[in-house]
Amino acid sequence: EDTVKVGLMGLGTVGSGVVRLIEDHQEDLYHQTGRRIAIEKVLVRDRLKKRSVPFGKGLLTDRAEDLLENREIDIVVEVMGGIEPAREYIREALLQGKHVVTANKDLMALHGAELLSVAAEKGCDVFYEASVAGGIPILRALVEGFSSDRITKMIGIVNGTTNYILTEMKRRGAPFGEVLHQAQTLGYAEADPASDVDGLDAARKMAILGTLGFRIPLSLEEVKVRGIADVTPEDVQFAEQMGYILKLVGIAQQDHGKVEVSVQPALLSGDHPLASVEGVYNAVSVYGEAVGETMFYGPGAGEMPTATAVVSDLVTVIKQMRLGVNGRGTVAPYREKQLKSPRE
Ligand code: NAP
Ligand code: HSE
Repeated sequence: EDTVKVGLMGLGTVGSGVVRLIEDHQEDLYHQTGRRIAIEKVLVRDRLKKRSVPFGKGLLTDRAEDLLENREIDIVVEVMGGIEPAREYIREALLQGKHVVTANKDLMALHGAELLSVAAEKGCDVFYEASVAGGIPILRALVEGFSSDRITKMIGIVNGTTNYILTEMKRRGAPFGEVLHQAQTLGYAEADPASDVDGLDAARKMAILGTLGFRIPLSLEEVKVRGIADVTPEDVQFAEQMGYILKLVGIAQQDHGKVEVSVQPALLSGDHPLASVEGVYNAVSVYGEAVGETMFYGPGAGEMPTATAVVSDLVTVIKQMRLGVNGRGTVAPYREKQLKSPRE
């Protein structure tokens, strides 16, 4: 009664951070939610792998059914990544009436609408704050903070790995391969780092930002993408000598219903606000018709920053469970009129 049981899918960089944060902030989380959070089962690929967070042997499993068919589990936190089997597991969790928190932008950019529909039918939440810009609560800001305004443009650095690579190339002329390897060791890069380097990870995030910010269904194919695979340390340092900083920039803009979204390397003048965003940091400028320009800044990847976004979503789900108002999650606002509260 007093405890909410959570099934954790994935115990890598983000999953380990989630476990640590729940443990370290348990009292404070209890204060906010009135519930203890207990991790009931953890799904991994390899149960015998050495882990940085200690777990009793009985808690780790390599069988998804151990979470999905466990009626005691109220919430599934998916931090394993990839499309399949993550899509199938999340869908099944929702069909079983479990709420879902995920950090998976690959999945939400491609199948978000489908999963949110299943969630709405079952009166469950799907939250995915960690999927864009790591520790920056940008999705909440778009959906709630700007609900009164019309967003016209979003410009941002939304991939930590490539920003880390470009920063290290500029600072010390480090070769591409070496810095990419560092970003992987630090837990910033995707399982397949080509999605960072080729701009696809940023494109997925821009598709999610566009959908939520512009309140329209925006598909990944609509995002034009160019990555930084051919950029050399010499390019970055030469640009700097000329007074420019090379960044991988995502732009989403809408003008009278026409929407354009792209990701590409761009030369920013040294005094541009995004030029000083360095290392694993991300930043997103959001322009609203009424508000003007706002800017969000913070760590875009890594264990603990990403875990804050995941666990904050978890707190929201638990608070909504107490109030009996689940069934929404981070819903694309264009869909709100199609959705009914489970109590209606
Ligand atoms: P990771 O370190 O590679 O960890 C993935 C975890 O999931 C591992 O514990 C792995 O098990 C488990 N796993 C993967 N596929 C599985 C399968 N088919 N069945 C069972 N378990 C499986 O990944 P991560 O960096 O934590 O990223 C997780 C998710 O968060 C991804 O969607 C990523 O895009 C997103 N994300 C990451 C960051 C970041 O900074 N890293 C930030 C924001 C969002 P084993 O340990 O046994 O291999
Ligand atoms: N690989 C991603 C990045 C993780 O570097 O930004 C955070 O989404």
